[in-house]
Amino acid sequence: MIRKNMKLLVTGGAGFIGSNFIRYVLNKYPQDQVINLDSLTYAGNLENLKDFENHPNYKFVKGDILNSELVAHIAVDCDIIVHFAAESHVDRSVLDPFSFVRTNVLGTHSLLEVARQLGNKRFHHVSTDEVFGSLSLEDENKAFHEETPYDPKSPYSSSKAASDHLVRAYYHTYGLPITISNCSNNYGPFQFPEKVIPLFITNLMEGKKVPLYGDGKNVRDWIHVDDHCEAVDLVIRGGRIGHTYCIGGDSEKSNYELTMAILQGMGFGEEMIEYVKDRPGHDRRYAVRSHKVQAELGWQPKMNFEQGIKQTIDWYANNGGWWQRIKSGDYKDYYEQWYNRK
Ligand SMILES: NC(=O)c1ccc[n+]([C@@H]2O[C@H](COP(=O)([O-])OP(=O)(O)OC[C@H]3O[C@@H](n4cnc5c(N)ncnc54)[C@H](O)[C@@H]3O)[C@@H](O)[C@H]2O)c1
Repeated sequence: MIRKNMKLLVTGGAGFIGSNFIRYVLNKYPQDQVINLDSLTYAGNLENLKDFENHPNYKFVKGDILNSELVAHIAVDCDIIVHFAAESHVDRSVLDPFSFVRTNVLGTHSLLEVARQLGNKRFHHVSTDEVFGSLSLEDENKAFHEETPYDPKSPYSSSKAASDHLVRAYYHTYGLPITISNCSNNYGPFQFPEKVIPLFITNLMEGKKVPLYGDGKNVRDWIHVDDHCEAVDLVIRGGRIGHTYCIGGDSEKSNYELTMAILQGMGFGEEMIEYVKDRPGHDRRYAVRSHKVQAELGWQPKMNFEQGIKQTIDWYANNGGWWQRIKSGDYKDYYEQWYNRK
């Protein structure tokens, strides 16, 4: 049954997907109320929701998901906790794994405990397909699905896998009404320019080359963030309690193909590629089968990749101030540390 007039506590709503999700919900359900709890790490940005600042049904609370007293205070009259907050960048997890354990594992556990203590609040965990590990390039017909065993390889994906397990454990042990979604790689407006698509687009806008890892053959499934938001929305309102839903964009691209799509979309050629040292432990291929969310909740990705990339390039072209402010800040230290690592 699709629920309306909900009060949602969204964690991590100042980040890329969380902010797109809040915009999606408040546009689609004007009667819903949303509280956005975000500690505003380097990745959190209130500019992402500037147009909603004065919306009567939207409230921002600055705080850490590990602050259980604060979470209990704001979650008490909410119908659901929709949990996006995380450390989300694989490369950063190689440099600093503990932050990932802290926020993604301990933070998720802290939220689950509050949800339990508040009389078993409805809880949705936004997770990743990376928990399933890596597929080979040779076996093109294989794809991740809800029954695929977990086999995470990076500190990021391991921390998300651990948090998925905790979420399920709270369902089985305490009856906490949970759902989980495991989604493939997102792209679209407001994505922090450390992630490959906005990094490449903004580098080209700055006249710089794009750093392509290894042989460029690693494959990812790309989904537009609006399609992911729609799927999460369907799962929180109509998904089966205790269930997991895999969400993919049906759009597998090698990193080389992705790079060429961006280069061509912006009028550049292959000479703008700089091949760089690969990410250690770089997963070879991800692919996701979304049959369950399609069959049970009628979801389909609406944005095709070509349209989506064009829309995303246009968004970064029209929002230069947004990404230039980010790229001229602390971001530079991280970028240099990562690309100059030994
Ligand atoms: N980006 C993707 O392609 C993708 C794909 C599948 C799943 N996911 C998952 O979706 C979620 C959102 O991803 P994203 O790309 O929007 O991430 P993001 O890095 O853009 O945003 C994360 C947000 O969480 C906030 N945050 C971090 N630690 C916090 C803490 N301790 N307390 C409160 N807030 C905190 C940050 O300030 C930021 O606003 C994550 O859980 C991620 O694992 C992402």
